[in-house]
Amino acid sequence: MVFSKNNADGELVFGVVGYYGKRVVITGGLGFIGSNLARSLVGLGARVTLADSLIPEYGGNLANIADLAQDVAVNVCDVRDPYAMKQLLRDTDFVFNLAGQTSHLDSMTDPQTDLAINTGAQISLLESCRQVAPECKIVFASTRQIYGKPKYLPVDEKHPIHPVDANGINKWAGESYHRLYAEVYGLNTTVLRLTNTYGPGMRVKDARQTFLGIWIRHALEGRPFLVFGDGNQLRDFNFVDDVVDALLRAGSQEKATGKIYNLGGEEVVSLNELANLLTEIVPESSFALQPFPQDRASIDIGDYYGSISAIKEELGWEPKVTLSVGLRKTVDYYREHHEHYWETFE
Ligand SMILES: NC(=O)c1ccc[n+]([C@@H]2O[C@H](COP(=O)([O-])OP(=O)(O)OC[C@H]3O[C@@H](n4cnc5c(N)ncnc54)[C@H](O)[C@@H]3O)[C@@H](O)[C@H]2O)c1
Repeated sequence: MVFSKNNADGELVFGVVGYYGKRVVITGGLGFIGSNLARSLVGLGARVTLADSLIPEYGGNLANIADLAQDVAVNVCDVRDPYAMKQLLRDTDFVFNLAGQTSHLDSMTDPQTDLAINTGAQISLLESCRQVAPECKIVFASTRQIYGKPKYLPVDEKHPIHPVDANGINKWAGESYHRLYAEVYGLNTTVLRLTNTYGPGMRVKDARQTFLGIWIRHALEGRPFLVFGDGNQLRDFNFVDDVVDALLRAGSQEKATGKIYNLGGEEVVSLNELANLLTEIVPESSFALQPFPQDRASIDIGDYYGSISAIKEELGWEPKVTLSVGLRKTVDYYREHHEHYWETFE
């Protein structure tokens, strides 16, 4: 059920009820999206446990929950450990399954680790749910990367699947297991295929998670940031609050069960337009075009933007935060908190 209320700034905001008093596990909960989701769930009165391995190269960061430390339980564990999963998931009402190896480049240099986390561990999680929490609702964060180079735009859920990197293959297998367990065992799973997501808590230390993270860092450091290619590639983006709204809707609406939905942004921009917007927001910044490095060129997907008609019609979700507003909020956050996200100004 959806409710509306006025927030601290007097704006009308919409949210989702149904989580009050419920036991919710977020795998990857110390990461970017997981920690933002945790904040909303705490606000909705859920009992929240964050499960995260805190592997240093990945996106988990305790600074992401600095304001929530008293309100959530943290379980440092690895989703690849089936015993830990069984223990973690017993009697859980909701699982937001966000733990993942997110770097496309790393997935090509170390495909086995990507496979173990993005596919193998997903089977452990689903098996554990089947055995110790068969009624729980599971929402899985998949990715638009599984589509590969678009054959048409906007890309809808019926678009052929043709991943261009190991991460895309393994995430696809991970989401397929969620579908399979819904069809064969009746588990309550929903898959969201996320597009580029940005906001406070995103990884800005390096370009592992997204190029936009390192752009923001370099912009704030007063260094030129690099745009690969001619900058004309089209993309869509979601501010993290909108993604959290989609996750909450997917978790609480029965008609989402067994379904797969794209997320996506309604503003489609070229990387040049995005880079110009960032230089407006951070006036001391500048950018330069640079040819694609070979390792990136081979897995680049060209233009991409998704169709969000299905989730709009069925769950009433649509993004509300414009790029301009979202990017400003993100930059403001890192101006204030950068010392928790990168160690030194180089
Ligand atoms: N951010 C995006 O633009 C985007 C786009 C598409 C899909 N996604 C998906 O959304 C999910 C969340 O992404 P994010 O942007 O918050 O990334 P993130 O890296 O900030 O969060 C992922 C979290 O998973 C944790 N993790 C990784 N391996 C683990 C393991 N073996 N055991 C336990 N925890 C582990 C990491 O420590 C990290 O905290 C991921 O599954 C990702 O594939 C994100």
